[in-house]
Amino acid sequence: MPKPIGEITRGTTGHNRLRRADRWVVAVHGRLLRSVERPLVVDLGYGASHTTTLELFSRLRRVCPSVEVVGVEIDPGRVAAARPYGREGLSFVLGGFELPVGRPPTLVRAFNVLRQYGEAEAWEYWAMLRRRIAPDGVIVEGTCSEVGHRAVWAGLDATGPRTLTFSARFGGFERPSDLAERLPKTLIHRNVPGEPIHAFLRDFDHAWAVNAPLGAYGFRQRWIATARTLARTWPVATRPPLGGRARWRLGELTLPWSAVDR
Ligand SMILES: C[S@@+](CC[C@H](N)C(=O)[O-])C[C@H]1O[C@@H](n2cnc3c(N)ncnc32)[C@H](O)[C@@H]1O
Repeated sequence: MPKPIGEITRGTTGHNRLRRADRWVVAVHGRLLRSVERPLVVDLGYGASHTTTLELFSRLRRVCPSVEVVGVEIDPGRVAAARPYGREGLSFVLGGFELPVGRPPTLVRAFNVLRQYGEAEAWEYWAMLRRRIAPDGVIVEGTCSEVGHRAVWAGLDATGPRTLTFSARFGGFERPSDLAERLPKTLIHRNVPGEPIHAFLRDFDHAWAVNAPLGAYGFRQRWIATARTLARTWPVATRPPLGGRARWRLGELTLPWSAVDR
């Protein structure tokens, strides 16, 4: 077997750490998964335990009973530790960005993996993954805090990055730009004056501040109002499945990647 592409990095993970992203995957890509006869989902770089892969499997099986999930990990010890937890439709294999699976995946989730690589490598591996997915497949690549209360992820398809999503637990941040530390590797160094992502986070904070009075009704109302304010000047997704009240009430906000990559 050829050497897996990538490097072994820290294996930090935890129960429910990726719940916010999984919930988004179910809402946004559930239909895509159900449209495929035997959809394959890859969880790339699942870390020191099988936990988040098993959680993804359980959540996806609820909306797509035929889904098959493969956890791909570059550390042989972590693969050996996870294998006993395999079952019908869920397996764990050794590999890297080359994705050693039998058919092109409909969805790849990679969380807290690319963050540990350089920016140029992150772009390169995005391109590699895009070439490996099914023609209508998608990639969800993101970063989150230790327990998953703050997360940011990019949604990609075979043509390139398409969306950027912010997700925060209410009470888990002071201002929206606190999420900047979770930006994908491909954006994090661009969070400087003059760059669109910097302007967006500045406006996000401003919208949060002007809607402070709504805090009297709770964080949720304040976030929803913030999303509405921002949508006047930024192309924030305002309709399902990516946007609108049903997503905003969860502390989520999605905008097209093109808005931050001009
Ligand atoms: C911080 S852990 C993330 C675990 C889990 N995805 C999470 O978010 O909780 C990153 C894992 O990715 C693995 N990894 C890094 N590069 C990889 C690659 N190219 N292919 C597969 N796994 C990789 C590391 O070995 C490590 O176990």
